[in-house]
Amino acid sequence: MTAALEISNLQTWYGESHILHNVNLKVQPGEVVTLLGRNGAGRTTTLRAIMGLTGARKGSIKINGVEAIGFPTHKIAHLGVGYCPEERGIFASLSTEENLLLPPQLSTGDKGMSIKEIYSMFPNLEERKHSQGTRLSGGEQQMLAVARILRTGARLLLLDEISEGLAPVIVQGLARMITTLKSKGYTIVMVEQNFRFAAPLADRFYVMEHGQIVETFVSSELSDKMPVLTELLGV
Ligand SMILES: Nc1ncnc2c1ncn2[C@@H]1O[C@H](COP(=O)(O)OP(=O)(O)O)[C@@H](O)[C@H]1O
Ligand SMILES: [Mg+2]
Repeated sequence: MTAALEISNLQTWYGESHILHNVNLKVQPGEVVTLLGRNGAGRTTTLRAIMGLTGARKGSIKINGVEAIGFPTHKIAHLGVGYCPEERGIFASLSTEENLLLPPQLSTGDKGMSIKEIYSMFPNLEERKHSQGTRLSGGEQQMLAVARILRTGARLLLLDEISEGLAPVIVQGLARMITTLKSKGYTIVMVEQNFRFAAPLADRFYVMEHGQIVETFVSSELSDKMPVLTELLGV
């Protein structure tokens, strides 16, 4: 089976700063993988590097078997990748529905969710469809940021700390959303600080430290790995 995402020996720089050192990561279609690590470990940089948003990159990033290391961001998106950045990127002056309609559909052949499907998955976004971006709660903004990429037809979702700063009841809603997306066959890479949120959702785990992958294991190994995770993450 061709991996949805296969990163080999990825190195990345921001200017002179060498941030990622030979990162290797492989995600099969339909898998949910979480990238854990302390602040500054290089998780966001990994997602940004996949999207071509860092400085120089070296190594290999294959998306559905296509080498994308030399591609500009828009071409990478058109391979079927949806990136939800930590800062969410909701347009404050646009309504919920305008935000949803903003990103263009990708040329992958995948149609993406219709507005109707999105509203049935996120009923509170339908209630708020005429509200301006600024009027939405943090949780609603986060739902909108994810919903927006579902409409484009992206099948590989890169989600950066979606649970951050949100109330437990909202985080539970996001967990249900991830479970639904997994059942629909989406491939998901979640960067998380919130171990308790990620742990029950992920099929596999990667732990980063100082721009390198230092641990990787499957969910059935989680309890055996708790001592090392406690040491690496302080969870
Ligand atoms: N735009 C940037 N320019 C220079 N250095 C950066 C930039 N963004 C992040 N870094 C550095 O890269 C390292 C990894 O950061 P990041 O990927 O944001 O970590 P994480 O998401 O795991 O918290 C940190 O040392 C951070 O200071
Ligand atoms: Mg980060």
